Amino acid sequence: MKAINVKLIKEDFPLLSRKMNDKKIVYLDSAATSQKPNSVINGVSNFYRRYNANVHRGAYKLAEESTNAYESSREKIAEFINAPSPSTIIFTRNTTESINLVALTWGEQNIKKNDHILVTELEHHSNLLPWMMLAKRKGAILDYVKVNKETGTLDKDSFEEKLKTKPKLVAISQCSNVLGNIIDIKGFAKKSHDAGAKVLVDGAQSVPHMPVDVKYIDCDFLAFSGHKMLAYTGIGVLYAKEEILRDMPPLFGGGEMILSVSYQDFVPNDIPWKFEAGTPNIEGAISLKLAIDYLNKIGMEKIQQHEEELTQYTVEKLSKIKNVKIYGPVEKSKHSGIVSFSIKGVHPHDIATIFDKEGIAIRAGHHCAMPLVNNVLNEPALARMSFYLYNDENDIDAAIEAIKLCKQTFNVP
Ligand code: ALA
Repeated sequence: MKAINVKLIKEDFPLLSRKMNDKKIVYLDSAATSQKPNSVINGVSNFYRRYNANVHRGAYKLAEESTNAYESSREKIAEFINAPSPSTIIFTRNTTESINLVALTWGEQNIKKNDHILVTELEHHSNLLPWMMLAKRKGAILDYVKVNKETGTLDKDSFEEKLKTKPKLVAISQCSNVLGNIIDIKGFAKKSHDAGAKVLVDGAQSVPHMPVDVKYIDCDFLAFSGHKMLAYTGIGVLYAKEEILRDMPPLFGGGEMILSVSYQDFVPNDIPWKFEAGTPNIEGAISLKLAIDYLNKIGMEKIQQHEEELTQYTVEKLSKIKNVKIYGPVEKSKHSGIVSFSIKGVHPHDIATIFDKEGIAIRAGHHCAMPLVNNVLNEPALARMSFYLYNDENDIDAAIEAIKLCKQTFNVP
């Protein structure tokens, strides 16, 4: 018995019925962005057709409806990640902006010269550059937890060793967008807290694909993006513990983020609004609520199980093909629906081009994790397939055929 009915799910995603080069499209790039179901597309269209108005400003009915929709999205998100209150949910543009917001506010306040900030070697640039830039501004020290190349996992000894520096912050992905590792965040957070650090979790590749409970993992910050979880682009989330948010200064000044203003000074608004200057992305927030409704209807546990099964299927098939190398954890239960691979002697961009001719969308490149791909894995680039609830074994079989075609085209034995 399959965890979910992909045939039915596919019907909800209009783009997936499109043809590409006369072939039915196979979308295997959900780690970059996900496709959107009809319920999200129609729901946003309905917002513009029926109740478009600015939020928190008008005294008229339309404004009340749009404000309710915007704020009920915040409530839905809080429930989805088990946050203690909607006021701990800040709307941003994406994961990158959420992390930068922390670096530019909490980081500016709390990181001093010679303080240590601990990240890992597998971070996406979005969980690396904000800390690198903060460290440069402050004269702080950025340390890295090593990746074990053989097992494709984080090296726990290296983590323990680095904790001895008493970092102020540990910033870590719950799932690598290159290796697909699922990290035991609860364990890392506990040890980091014991060492006196705050913990920021990059949930860009985890929140869309598995149940994430901020109380259970006990992180101080969690960042993720709507567009990777069936919602529109341009909407992201920062969760943070309430007492931290209360201490953090606002980043942007303008409308909405104030309680009162004089010509000399201002009083910032309460959380979460003090971090949301200007007209927010109302349609994005609405799309995220509808996306969560869709995901909840299927069930996050089932989605995770489905992707695990698909990944096992893929890894088994790929490992039987000569001269194909798979990257990521060897232990299957730790491997999310992201499978990076290479074919000996074929550049990943050529792989992606041949896939494209077959109607299959995959990503090739450094995946915004240049140090990991170039310096740790010693590859110029990698090809990557990434799955979601609308993929099935037929999609993988098509990819396997495309790999055989790549090998044939480039005379790889
Ligand atoms: N972070 C996205 C990816 O891994 C864009 O493709």
